[in-house]
Amino acid sequence: MSKSTSYSSKQIDEQGLIEWSNEENETWKLLYERQIELLKGRACKEYMQGIELLKLPSDCIPQLPDIDEVLMRETGWQTAAVPALINFTEFFTLLANKRFPVATFIRSKDEFDYLQEPDIFHEIFGHCPLLTNPAFAHFTHVYGQLGLAASKEDRIYLARLYWFTVEFGLVKTNEGLRIYGGGILSSPGETHYALESNEAIRKPLVPIDVLRTPYRIDIMQPLYYILEQFDDLFEISKMDIMAMVEEAKKLGLFEPRFPPKQKLAS
Ligand SMILES: [Fe+2]
Repeated sequence: MSKSTSYSSKQIDEQGLIEWSNEENETWKLLYERQIELLKGRACKEYMQGIELLKLPSDCIPQLPDIDEVLMRETGWQTAAVPALINFTEFFTLLANKRFPVATFIRSKDEFDYLQEPDIFHEIFGHCPLLTNPAFAHFTHVYGQLGLAASKEDRIYLARLYWFTVEFGLVKTNEGLRIYGGGILSSPGETHYALESNEAIRKPLVPIDVLRTPYRIDIMQPLYYILEQFDDLFEISKMDIMAMVEEAKKLGLFEPRFPPKQKLAS
């Protein structure tokens, strides 16, 4: 969630539908076709199963009620159309109620490869397939409930857990490393980088370590955490995550593996 945006979300009508322009549908088509090809052998099988269940159209932006029908049937989740920016309380409230926020705009052509704001391609293509999976759906639900009850300070720690799993998580499989983080799955550059870069560091996911790891949203991640198996998301949901947040506070943050963000002269 960035602090400012030049995008604005589209309104849904009474049936929950959105009228997209030909240009917007064309953007989806180009993004979808490129990314679905790239994810073969790179995305985890749980994600690919979700893609099969959702049957996303390749040539136009999906309509939210079609996604909701599948999510509701599989895990009891639904999407929620939201403005381009929402605050943390709104975000956690939605997740705590099994509603996944989808900002209803799509990136412009000049930000085709990279944008900081999560657009509808990122939210639907990156996250919704895994919301058909019980372990991922449960983890996201528990995260929402914890976040809603947490203090502002604790939310910053929780955000790291979300970042290194839901957004940028990798998982070990018999066939090698696979991606499940939506931030990677919706980004062609990071799909290659996360799995193939020799610069990136990849470590087994230890929740307390994750809570202590700073991150930046505007660079390729220098560090990825790897789940031993996908269903470990269930196990993490059962842990006392808030006690781990307290522990992380005591232990302090790890040194960032990235340079500080350049401050703009005012
Ligand atoms: Fe996301």
